[in-house]
Amino acid sequence: MAEYITQAGFPIKRPRRMRTDDFARRLMAENQITVDDLIYPVFVLDGNNKIEAIPSMPGITRKTIDQLLLELEEVTQLNIPAIALFPVVEAAKKSLGAEEAFNPEGLVQRAVKAIKEKFPQLGVITDVALDPYTVHGQDGIIDDKGYVLNDQTIAVLIQQALSHAKAGADIVAPSDMMDGRIGAIRNALEQGQYINTKILAYSAKYASAFYGPFRDAVSSAANLGKADKKTYQMDPANGDEAFHEVALDLQEGADMVMVKPGMPYLDVIYRVKQNFKVPVMAYHVSGEYAMLKAASANGWIDEKKCVLEAMVSFKRAGTDAILTYYAKEVAHWLNKY
Ligand code: PBG
Repeated sequence: MAEYITQAGFPIKRPRRMRTDDFARRLMAENQITVDDLIYPVFVLDGNNKIEAIPSMPGITRKTIDQLLLELEEVTQLNIPAIALFPVVEAAKKSLGAEEAFNPEGLVQRAVKAIKEKFPQLGVITDVALDPYTVHGQDGIIDDKGYVLNDQTIAVLIQQALSHAKAGADIVAPSDMMDGRIGAIRNALEQGQYINTKILAYSAKYASAFYGPFRDAVSSAANLGKADKKTYQMDPANGDEAFHEVALDLQEGADMVMVKPGMPYLDVIYRVKQNFKVPVMAYHVSGEYAMLKAASANGWIDEKKCVLEAMVSFKRAGTDAILTYYAKEVAHWLNKY
């Protein structure tokens, strides 16, 4: 104690001095969230002029391409740099082989074309994974025991990624966790001359229960039933394993890596950023969104303050960009200074 107190009896250092005034706090702030950090995930439906609410994700809807284009007017006006597109696929189009995933006239492919035509500056990220297209809701092709077959799945993912690139996707984002898929997709993109199509690898994607509301949103929850994804998504208990996954994906040609979910995994984000110094994205997933919405709706927390605190915590951990269903609200709040 003695060395921290001067002879006159006052503290030798007063960290609170710099917290006294608003101007000093602003000057001292180490991190800041801006609109440039945001990616807005959207759900697209087949058909026309339809908007459907998602009860477990208040404020988020699934909508047809025409309606999505209207929403993207707002997104681009807010200057949000990119969106991530997720399809809601009709039951009749699901199969064991997930062939709809690479249909050049499929929902995602048509949506990408329409979006890039109307908003050429908006970054469009597509999800490369088979779960919206399989009858069982797994992210790949399964054997007779329900095990997801790695290499057979990759063959389909390659075709899916190529069809997205061909439609005009700026970034393809494999979220399936198969081994070796980043290298295989990079190779196929190069051969197809899609040299500037970027790959955002979901490198550290955990077998998380926080994806529940998303599975409601894309209607894969019922298909998946009681099954889980633990033979390919990572165990939440593991941090070191994320290193190996990230290292492999970077070696195979990933341009950016993703950690998912977000807030329960800030330690993983931090370690990945510190070690690899590459662009790191975080997915603030549906369950995290649902928790914040539910507590706010009950008046238990201050929504704006809690969400902005969550956002700056992602920055503090080292995240370069955040996929969040709150992107539009955050952009609105940031604009109101
Ligand atoms: C599927 C996919 C999932 C999410 C994004 N892509 C769910 C899953 O792996 O089952 C979840 C996103 C969220 O919860 O917001 N490949």
